[in-house]
Amino acid sequence: MAAKLQAVRGMNDLLPDVSPRWRGVEQRLQAVLGRYGYEEIRLPLVEPTALFARTIGEVTDIVEKEMYTFLDRNGDSLTLRPEGTAGVVRAGIEHGLFQGQVLRLWYQGPMFRHERPQRGRYRQFHQIGAECFGGAEPELDAELIAMTAQFWRELGLSGLRLELNSLGSREARAAYRAQLQAYFREHYAALDADSQRRLETNPLRILDSKNPDLAALIAAAPSLPEHLDADSRVHFERLCALLDSLGVAYTVNPRLVRGLDYYGRTVFEWVTDALGAQGTVCAGGRYDTLVEQLGGRPTPAIGFALGLERLLDLLGAQGIDPAPPRRVWYVVSTPGACRARALQLAQQLRAQPDAPSVLMDHAGGNFGKQMQRADRAGAEVALIIGEDELAAGTVTVRLLRAARPTQETVPQDQVRAAVIRLASETPA
Ligand code: HAM
Repeated sequence: MAAKLQAVRGMNDLLPDVSPRWRGVEQRLQAVLGRYGYEEIRLPLVEPTALFARTIGEVTDIVEKEMYTFLDRNGDSLTLRPEGTAGVVRAGIEHGLFQGQVLRLWYQGPMFRHERPQRGRYRQFHQIGAECFGGAEPELDAELIAMTAQFWRELGLSGLRLELNSLGSREARAAYRAQLQAYFREHYAALDADSQRRLETNPLRILDSKNPDLAALIAAAPSLPEHLDADSRVHFERLCALLDSLGVAYTVNPRLVRGLDYYGRTVFEWVTDALGAQGTVCAGGRYDTLVEQLGGRPTPAIGFALGLERLLDLLGAQGIDPAPPRRVWYVVSTPGACRARALQLAQQLRAQPDAPSVLMDHAGGNFGKQMQRADRAGAEVALIIGEDELAAGTVTVRLLRAARPTQETVPQDQVRAAVIRLASETPA
């Protein structure tokens, strides 16, 4: 027997029982993005592999071991995007979007990383991200972070904590990196294998280690805030003051370094303890030199991405259902001429842009059976066409969720008006 076909491990189907919740979240976040002046950009899922090596960094986990990279039929090395920022920067340079003005862009869609699947960590996952180009002022950091705080308010979410740090300028970070390396070299034997590897390539990432055995060593390591350059310190203090003035609470986490190389100055993460090990729901930071590094004109930038799987998991944990309300009218009829007229009625109702879902019963059976299916479909209204209605050109409108039985037979062209009137007269 042939092997059973299954989805790729770590890649999930989103079935109709959950897709309304996803749509509800996406619509609300998009509405907030619109209010802050962000415009949508849609980009390919596949990019030249070199783009990610040059942006995310050669010695990051993502580029070293998590990318879906393949040769296409021309022998070109392509990669399924592991994140969105690199593509946005590539497209911005390619289309001359960076002209010195402030440009706000958002995107959403699947990203791909070959990580070990577990709760909150998948191989195909979905982000909504935003990038703000053309301004280095801390006011833009504050605006962007305040927008993420607005997301949670909009969704009714609580319990997310904002962690904030500054990585300083490139030069300051290079000097700090050297000090950190010297410190950890002195304690080489105490490091785990992962940290020993990172020592030469990416020592800041050791600070991020979740290994409890390293906690004391890391706590005693030279601290990043003490090595900030003066300009970055002023920038960070201003950002903190602005967030205070906007009422956005945060904690400064001097060990927050992020796993992608393009950051400098501000970095932040929204975290929760409610999701187990994968508690970062939203994360981002400044990347003021990346556009220039990729051949564009100098363009400071800041952005973030949020993981939709984690956000939906957290909404579920807090009992919040973001799905837009579903309205269903169910058309019940007998086969033959009645069914033909029912089809016509459904077609007529669906032509209205604000129509609910109008479901035709095609399974047949007696009226009782059809009414049961109407109920199971969650219908609020049944529209019945039997022999009497067919002969008279009428439809019987029955409210299914009303406190007392309510129905009325009306001419076919008055069905909408009748539903509205009956609903307003009848307590639910
Ligand atoms: P990131 O921290 O790699 O940053 O990912 C952002 C968010 O995507 C994470 O906080 C998490 O919620 C979600 N995420 C990441 N990996 C997975 C996974 N394997 N499964 C489920 N969710 C995941 C970036 O991607 C940057 N591009 C963010 C950014 C934009 N920085 C500046 N602009």
